[in-house]
Amino acid sequence: MEAYLLDWLSLLLRWAHLVVGIAWIGASLYFIWLDNSLEPPVRAEDRERGVSGELWAVHGGGFYHAQKYRLAPPTLPERLHWFKWEAYWTWITGFALLVLIYYVNAETYLVDPAVMALSKAQAVGIGLASLIAGLAVYEGLCRSPLGRNDAALAGVLLLLLAVAAWGLSLVFSGRGAYIHYGAILGTIMVGNVAHIIIPGQRELVRAKQDGREPDPRHAVAGKQRSVHNTYFTLPVLFVMISSHYAMTFGSRWNWLVLVALTVSGALIRVWFVMRHKGGAPAWPLAAGIAVLLAVAALLAPRTGGDGAPVKYAGVQRVMELHCVSCHAAKPTFQGMAEPPKGVVLDTPERVRVQAAMIHQQTVLSKAMPPGNITGMTDEERALLDRWVRGGAKAD
Ligand code: HEC
Repeated sequence: MEAYLLDWLSLLLRWAHLVVGIAWIGASLYFIWLDNSLEPPVRAEDRERGVSGELWAVHGGGFYHAQKYRLAPPTLPERLHWFKWEAYWTWITGFALLVLIYYVNAETYLVDPAVMALSKAQAVGIGLASLIAGLAVYEGLCRSPLGRNDAALAGVLLLLLAVAAWGLSLVFSGRGAYIHYGAILGTIMVGNVAHIIIPGQRELVRAKQDGREPDPRHAVAGKQRSVHNTYFTLPVLFVMISSHYAMTFGSRWNWLVLVALTVSGALIRVWFVMRHKGGAPAWPLAAGIAVLLAVAALLAPRTGGDGAPVKYAGVQRVMELHCVSCHAAKPTFQGMAEPPKGVVLDTPERVRVQAAMIHQQTVLSKAMPPGNITGMTDEERALLDRWVRGGAKAD
């Protein structure tokens, strides 16, 4: 019963995380597009009122006319919409999911004894520390003299992200490392909203109310952090869906895959941003796709092997020893209410039709059993490999 209720909690949190995340990222993508698509105001009186750009759009059965002011409008409207709770709720629901899935079940999802035999407390401690350290290092860099050189800062940040990916892959399971990398980025992004972007906007409003010029430092910092958030978006979204793709987090070079997809996502975003501004050279897009293709080629399963026939009885034994405690109609593994992902491996027919998936999860990557919790040996993986390559026969 408890496991069942936890499943519901997880479902509702994940659903909420997705909804608020879409609201946040959606608004953020929209405003970047809007800002880059503005045209000089047509009417002289708008220009005199301080309008620096405008845009007409049609959407959902109506015409919209957005105007951006160079500084502040002559009088502040009574109601001003702020966009911040989408970001805060994305972090809150995301952190709750991290705790519920990766910390409560650290033995299953976070710890992989083949990587490092951590206790649950150690794993959770390292996980939380990585988030705090990530945020602290990022803030420190942005506020240091390096923070005034955007290109150098971007280079150093990418290097440090690579170090983080590598470091996490040395202590956690593949998926545990990935999720913490994403959580570090997400924490930095929300931190940027909470500590820099929103206070900067408050300063704009206050300056207007006091009838003085706003402090330009806020605008500069706000701009820099928004740009970072823009380029972090695609990598973070990849991490959110990465747990479905064992070939990425389960590969031997999982941290390099993560770095490569970060670079690829950022490059593709660079291209979109340039395009909004009126024209983009093809190279960022081409480079982003080239990186993706290179990763796909490097991760491609090696064909070959002797494919010597393997009797099903051997496979059955491996399934019973290492899989069915979770992958049965009624799992016996503690805390598991339903077979995960609906994958049931209790009869030869079911095992046979899922041979390719089993191969993916146990041979091409070592995603299953999670954290190698049952101690599956390399010989057993090799046996499954030969069986699948030999045509996955049921005799
Ligand atoms: C301790 C419980 C446990 C054991 C033991 C286990 N699995 Fe899993 N398995 C899971 C969980 C949890 C998931 C869902 C992972 C996720 O949410 O992405 C899963 C998912 C899968 C999937 C679906 C992957 C996908 O992304 O669609 C396959 C296939 C699979 N396991 C095969 C196996 C095989 C083969 C074995 C035995 C060698 C095995 N599992 C052992 C818990 C387990």
